[in-house]
Amino acid sequence: MHTEHIKIERLEAAETDLLRAAEILRSGGLVVFPTETVYGLGGNALDAHAAERIYAAKGRPSDNPLIIHVAFPEEAERYAYPNKTYYRLAKAFMPGPLTVILPKKENIPTTVTGGLDSVAVRCPSHPVAHRLIELAGVPIAAPSANLSGKPSPTAACHVAEDLDGRVQMILDGGESEIGLESTIVKIDGDTLTLLRPGGITYDALCMVCDKVTVAPAVTHRLAENERPLSPGMKYRHYAPSAPVVLLDGDEKQVLAFLKAEQERTSCAILCYDEELLRLAPVNLFPIGPKDDLATQAKRLFSALREADSANAEMIYAHLPPMEGIGLALYNRMIRAAAHTVKTIAQ
Ligand code: TXA
Ligand code: MG
Repeated sequence: MHTEHIKIERLEAAETDLLRAAEILRSGGLVVFPTETVYGLGGNALDAHAAERIYAAKGRPSDNPLIIHVAFPEEAERYAYPNKTYYRLAKAFMPGPLTVILPKKENIPTTVTGGLDSVAVRCPSHPVAHRLIELAGVPIAAPSANLSGKPSPTAACHVAEDLDGRVQMILDGGESEIGLESTIVKIDGDTLTLLRPGGITYDALCMVCDKVTVAPAVTHRLAENERPLSPGMKYRHYAPSAPVVLLDGDEKQVLAFLKAEQERTSCAILCYDEELLRLAPVNLFPIGPKDDLATQAKRLFSALREADSANAEMIYAHLPPMEGIGLALYNRMIRAAAHTVKTIAQ
């Protein structure tokens, strides 16, 4: 399949291309589009075959359900049964990086929801995503636009690496602003369960809802045979081919450990910007200043891709703190590392 690559500099100048993209979606084809979180691999969410094509293009197991993207929060009513809590969340965080799991209506095919009777709904804030959904006139089912098992794409070049020849069109809207996938919550009456942390933080959710619990799989390894609340939690996502080890402990000691490891092995390091001049200048992938978790979130997936292509024996990174967007970073990194944390002690 030939993939058309379209660069979008200004939304106003892109209307003709977006109309064509919308037509591809309506006729069952696949279009990759930018969002504020990561790039999405979109197909018509009302078309069971489009969902099958998405799974095939990604090489993803079809029991892992897709998020449907709508142009306006109230459109959830057409495809699901939102309640008061949904509207409270929508008022506070939509459009934006929040996905809400709701009981589904009949018109959403079970291929989209991996056989579940619930559906994940998200209203992205990225102007290109918003306009594309509006023009398509149908909800767009979209997982992250990476091959299954690779980090989510935060730039069109990552998408091209994974999906060139597998989709009709890639819309290049530049670098993703947040860089980690949306926060996912499940509503049970007035209780929220945080299934996947993202740009909308735990603290922000607590400002809107009194009862917010964090699903155990966000921070802990699932036990054998344990059924996760979200099917995606059981897969080892975002993992480079080299083993990833997260380092915890005193800053100076961790730096000394890294220096020693650089002499001993061919390792790649996802380092803080401040460490660039203090480590040997080989296979260093800076993810941002130590105290700037938002920049680290934005650069993480790109750094993981680069570190992976360095063909190092091992990839080291710092264990992030679990506060603010740090919880989302922690969740992605602990999974990339298959829960391998090394504490550096004196
Ligand atoms: O930021 C994002 O959410 C991006 C952009 C493209 O919108 N999309 C994304 O999709 O990350 P994906 O497919 O890579 O991750 C969706 C996650 C999966 O872990 C899936 O298991 C979970 O959402 N999910 C989807 N529907 C669900 C449902 N009905 N119940 C529980 N979990 C669900
Ligand atoms: Mg994904």
